[in-house]
Amino acid sequence: MIAVRNNFMENKNYSLIYRTIHWLIAISFVLLMITIFLRMYWMNKTHVSDIIADFLKDKSFSLTEEERILLAKKIRKPMWQWHIYIGYFLVGIFSLRMVLPLFGIMPLPNPMQQKISQVVKIQKWVYLLFYLCVSISLVTGLLIEFGPKEWKSSVENIHELSIYYLLTYIALHLAGILYADFVSDKGIISRMIGGGNK
Ligand code: HEM
Repeated sequence: MIAVRNNFMENKNYSLIYRTIHWLIAISFVLLMITIFLRMYWMNKTHVSDIIADFLKDKSFSLTEEERILLAKKIRKPMWQWHIYIGYFLVGIFSLRMVLPLFGIMPLPNPMQQKISQVVKIQKWVYLLFYLCVSISLVTGLLIEFGPKEWKSSVENIHELSIYYLLTYIALHLAGILYADFVSDKGIISRMIGGGNK
């Protein structure tokens, strides 16, 4: 048993493997979010295309909008490649997290467990829902890269929705963890960082 429960709802201690996987997943998501925001805003293809158009306006040659968008995508590509690398890394870490419970390590949250409060039940459902959404994002990401070409655009539409559950989850998770640390489970954040015994 990796995370030891000292009472019905709180005061878990987190093993090194639990903490390592948690922080690898958390850091991967933060990095993925950075690449998504870069793509949506600073490196948005229309925005970059407008910068190119503005730069070329007093020059002796010009580019069509199609050419400018193509150039903007080429400029963005090395940055976006990191989205794909981090995605592969997350596939590995996430698969490990899903396989470890088969060996009795890091059991998946179980909301049907007896003797846990309503709040903890909801928290466990949220983790399971989050893992379901992550699976969908990872599978659709892999299908964009390796799946049939005809599926690409519909799969992309599903994949792009990931940002909504991700932001919602992170907001809920951070609010819950901060509340726990200040009110109901003091020291939970430092135990997730450094382990430690209560
Ligand atoms: C300052 C940042 C964060 C802190 C302090 C933090 C802290 C924690 C703690 C203390 C738990 C255990 C809660 C429990 O005992 O039930 C936990 C679980 C979890 N956290 Fe975080 N977290 C952070 C960021 C993130 C981010 C960015 C993600 C992913 C987007 C994430 C994903 C998860 C998941 C999936 C679990 C459930 C782990 C499992 O049992 O499989 N966390 N976090």
